[in-house]
Amino acid sequence: MRIHTVCVTGFRNLQDGEHELFPGVNILFGDNAQGKTNFLEAVYVCSTGRSQRGSADREMINHDLSESRVRVETDDSTLIDIHLQRGGKKSVAINHLPTKRLGDLFGNLLTVSFSPEDLRIIKQGPKERRRFMDMELCQLSRIYYSELLSYYRALRQRNNLLRQIKQERAERATLFIWNSQLATHGAKIFARRKEFCELLNNIAGRLHAAITNHNESLQVIYKPDAAPNDVEERLNANTERDITRVSTSVGIHRDDIEFIVNDTNCRVYGSQGQQRTAALSAKLAEMEIIKQTKNKNPILLLDDVLSELDINRQRYLLDSISGSQVIMTLTGMEDIKRFAPADARIMAVKQGSIT
Ligand SMILES: Nc1ncnc2c1ncn2[C@@H]1O[C@H](COP(=O)(O)OP(=O)(O)O)[C@@H](O)[C@H]1O
Ligand SMILES: [Mg+2]
Repeated sequence: MRIHTVCVTGFRNLQDGEHELFPGVNILFGDNAQGKTNFLEAVYVCSTGRSQRGSADREMINHDLSESRVRVETDDSTLIDIHLQRGGKKSVAINHLPTKRLGDLFGNLLTVSFSPEDLRIIKQGPKERRRFMDMELCQLSRIYYSELLSYYRALRQRNNLLRQIKQERAERATLFIWNSQLATHGAKIFARRKEFCELLNNIAGRLHAAITNHNESLQVIYKPDAAPNDVEERLNANTERDITRVSTSVGIHRDDIEFIVNDTNCRVYGSQGQQRTAALSAKLAEMEIIKQTKNKNPILLLDDVLSELDINRQRYLLDSISGSQVIMTLTGMEDIKRFAPADARIMAVKQGSIT
């Protein structure tokens, strides 16, 4: 899969314009704070409907404007249009047809984004690791996305109800409806996550061994908060505690993934280098899983990651991504000499203008 053109209007500090991309490696080159990450974000929004940095929609609209648009056209003539409005809902059109659900976006533009934050997924909290799973699974399956939406909707409603019960404005008896909904949607999410982690374990394990010259082993283990069959019972049992804390104590919103390097928990005992290597293996595995499942090469968005890796890891990453379309950021002239393939397209980014 390749992006043919990216057209941005009113997006952060980027100047309005249409940019044709090269099928191979595209380099966004420039000093800090010029708009390189913003450009990657524009592409990522067309892939997943949201920012890879976790920014709110309104933050992606230029400060002085009330709306922004991004349009991406791929080589298979898919046209994705995203329209963000200050104070309004975001709208999405695929091939000029407006979509009702954001979930319809997933799978049209497959991307894998690598940032320094991604290389810290092992060190960070479980929320980041769940996000890692979810963003991948959403790209692989729109059903997964709709299950997630339903689950989180039920979770919000249950938490609202807990608050009302605490304030004696609602009855305990109504909680069971949400407990059962959380169990039903949660079980479907559980099954997908379990399958994904098993795949990740196989592929990332193999990649990690190769990257470390077989000096290290990596296992990726899904750590669900509860077995699906126990969820409802445990929610019922925790009723009083949940009301006191106004929060839901059991469910897939508390799942985690464990990374085991050489038989120890990498999050707790791994060196920074080991944690980055394990994260790199997981990200490369993510790319591989998309390739296998969708039969298409995802587009790779590399934001300042090369500088975070040692020379061997840099080599490995650059070798692994050949054959895919890549959009990557680089800052110094030195980096261009070191990392840019001879046939790369270099785009200079300065104060939001890309040339
Ligand atoms: N909503 C916005 N409107 C206008 N400018 C913005 C907006 N959001 C961020 N910026 C500007 O974008 C620049 C940062 O761009 P970024 O792509 O993160 O830089 P880098 O080239 O280092 O990756 C900063 O100058 C910031 O002020
Ligand atoms: Mg940046």
